[in-house]
This record gives sequence, C-alpha cells and structure tokens, in this order.
Amino acid sequence: MDRLRQALKGVAQDLSKKLASSATLGLGSGSTVAMLLEELSPLLIAKGRRVSGVPTSTQIELVASRNGIDLVPFRGSVDLVVDGADQVDEGLNLIKGGGGALLREKVVMGSAKSIAIVAAENKFTKLLCEKGVRVPVEVVPLARESAKVKLSLLGGVPEERLMPKGYPYFTENGNLILDTMFEPVEDPKKLEAKLRSVPGVAEVGIFTFRPITVYRLRDDGTFDVLKNPN
Ligand code: A5P
Repeated sequence: MDRLRQALKGVAQDLSKKLASSATLGLGSGSTVAMLLEELSPLLIAKGRRVSGVPTSTQIELVASRNGIDLVPFRGSVDLVVDGADQVDEGLNLIKGGGGALLREKVVMGSAKSIAIVAAENKFTKLLCEKGVRVPVEVVPLARESAKVKLSLLGGVPEERLMPKGYPYFTENGNLILDTMFEPVEDPKKLEAKLRSVPGVAEVGIFTFRPITVYRLRDDGTFDVLKNPN
C-alpha cells in the first residue's frame, strides 16, 4: 500500500470514531478526498452508520455513489465537511480550486458545523502562494477581460485556465477560472476580500475558515492533526 493511502486509512479510522450515528457530510472534491471516501465508507457501513453526503462536484458525486454513500441535496448546512487543499499555510489558511470546485466547496464549507481538511505534507508552506501555487479565481464569462485587468491592479498575474487542447475551461457553474499568481501572501483574509470585491468574481480559492482541523499526511504513512480555533 502506498504511504498516502496508509495515512488516509488512519485518518478514516479517526473520523469514523468521531462521526455520530447519523450525519450529513459535505464532500469536497479532488483525488485526496476520493481516496479518503474509499477508506471511510466501508468503516461506516461496517458500523451501521447512516451517513449521507452533499457533493461539491460531479467528480466526488460519482466517487461517493460508487462507495455506497447516500447523496442528498444541500439543505443549508452539513455536520462535517471533508475536503482537500492545494496549499496550506502556517495559519491553516488554504488555497483550493485546483479541480475547479471552489465555489461549491466554499458554500458548503461556509455552513458546516466542523471542517476536516486532508493534505499531503508537500502542500504545506509558511505562506500561501509560495512555490508558484496560484489562486484560482472563478469569474462569470462576461468579466473575462475586465477581471484580468482588476486582478493585475491588485498585484496578480492572471491566466485563464484552459483544457488540455486549448479550449476554455468552464466550471460546473458555467464560469471561467483565472489562475492568478501572487507574491507570498502575508494577510490571506485581506487578499480574499479584495479579490471577492472585483466585479464578476463569483468566488476565490483562498479559504480562511475558523475553526478547522487539518490532517497532515506524512510521507512515512502516518498523519498529524493541526487545529486553528481562532
Ligand atoms: C477542488 O477544486 C479542489 O479544491 C481540491 O480540493 C484541491 O484541488 C485538492 O485536490 P487534490 O486532492 O486532487 O490534490
């Protein structure tokens, strides 16, 4: 078994102990959450837990249904969000949206009773946007060019996300993504607010929720738990 999978198995065991007998999960998107659900679902089924899930993308919807998790519509809140991240800084702020699901992920996370993030240790840095990781900014198509200008004025270098053959990339909400490079970010909350104020921006991939729990998946197959209650 590879080490990432081994660490996720441990996280799944930890989460399965904490989940109440009946709970609604917010299901973030991406490969890490997909593997986590593959490990978590059999544990919950074995314990006879009735856990249902609100998917944030078709990708995770398919994974959840393959793994026997009942899918339910979003009714305004969930008990626990499980999600991945593209980058995690020392204050446990996140960059998300590498898979384009940032808008739905932020909506669901914004009304979760608790938040659990799982991320491999190579995604942890002192500040967001180190190592060239860019902030995905979801923009309505009308604002394609105007938002690029405004993001540049805020110090960013936006680049429209394209499909492998060069076609424009559209999110499941029919919007575009401008992957925007910034200098390492000293104040993520401030940058998040500034980016969200650009006309036509639907959501930004900087996540500054509190409190959150982050499971750091170590290269040796173990994990540690980081919390930011402030
Ligand atoms: C989806 O849009 C993202 O927010 C993912 O959670 C993030 O990109 C992490 O994905 P991986 O687990 O595939 O690295």
